[in-house]
Amino acid sequence: MPPDAIDLSRRAEISELPELMDEPCSRDVLRHCLRDLARVNRWFFAYRPTLAWLNLLALPKDGGVHIMDVGCGYGDSLRRIEQWASRRKIPVAMTGCDLNPDTIAIAREATPARSRIRWVASDIFSLECDKPVDIIVSSLFTHHLTEPDIIRFIQWMDATARIGWFINDLSRASVPYQLFKAFAKVARLHPFVQHDGPVSIARAFIPHDWRRMCTAAGLAESDIRIQSFTPARLCVGRRKQRIH
Ligand SMILES: C[S@@+](CC[C@H](N)C(=O)[O-])C[C@H]1O[C@@H](n2cnc3c(N)ncnc32)[C@H](O)[C@@H]1O
Repeated sequence: MPPDAIDLSRRAEISELPELMDEPCSRDVLRHCLRDLARVNRWFFAYRPTLAWLNLLALPKDGGVHIMDVGCGYGDSLRRIEQWASRRKIPVAMTGCDLNPDTIAIAREATPARSRIRWVASDIFSLECDKPVDIIVSSLFTHHLTEPDIIRFIQWMDATARIGWFINDLSRASVPYQLFKAFAKVARLHPFVQHDGPVSIARAFIPHDWRRMCTAAGLAESDIRIQSFTPARLCVGRRKQRIH
């Protein structure tokens, strides 16, 4: 289990506090873990920041918009975005990308047959996009990367996404760290989620981290918007000129 007393004044290194879900395990174990993570996402309103950001975009209703979710996990965020788009009659193409082929198989089997989401197993840094991408979103993904890789990811998103991108991740703070640890135990969440939840918070960010990394990626402060959402989310968004 992650330690009770932890120094959150700096971001924990991935090698120092690895996540169990990143270690090899059976597909059944992974499925159980990802389902519990999706329950936590629902209980803690994890989709709300991304949907609020999408609502700002005034997307065209006459042409397709291609939305990609990186590190899509169980795929629940993207399915929620598909619902959002369908309620607003916004035609969208959607791609969920994840490094782990088992995760992609699990996301696919959790998705209704009528869905138009395309699931792709690939490391994002070697993904070859076969069609232009308008919007790139991610949730609980960036804390899986080292700082140089996050900078690379920001540069890739900025070069790739024609309309904009949105990172939805955690805020590094001691109250959520302690509260989630206690909550996960009482709620009897999957042991991986009990372990990885607090570890993710220790590997997450404060606003200054995002300012530093976005600057290193070549962006000006005025290009991005950093916003906190209760509970314990810290998000970064970038809206570019509309291309339609
Ligand atoms: C904590 S999960 C987040 C899942 C989901 N987005 C959510 O919010 O519940 C992080 C996911 O990122 C994936 N991932 C890690 N590194 C990746 C990479 N380089 N390219 C694509 N996916 C990656 C992992 O396999 C894992 O499924």
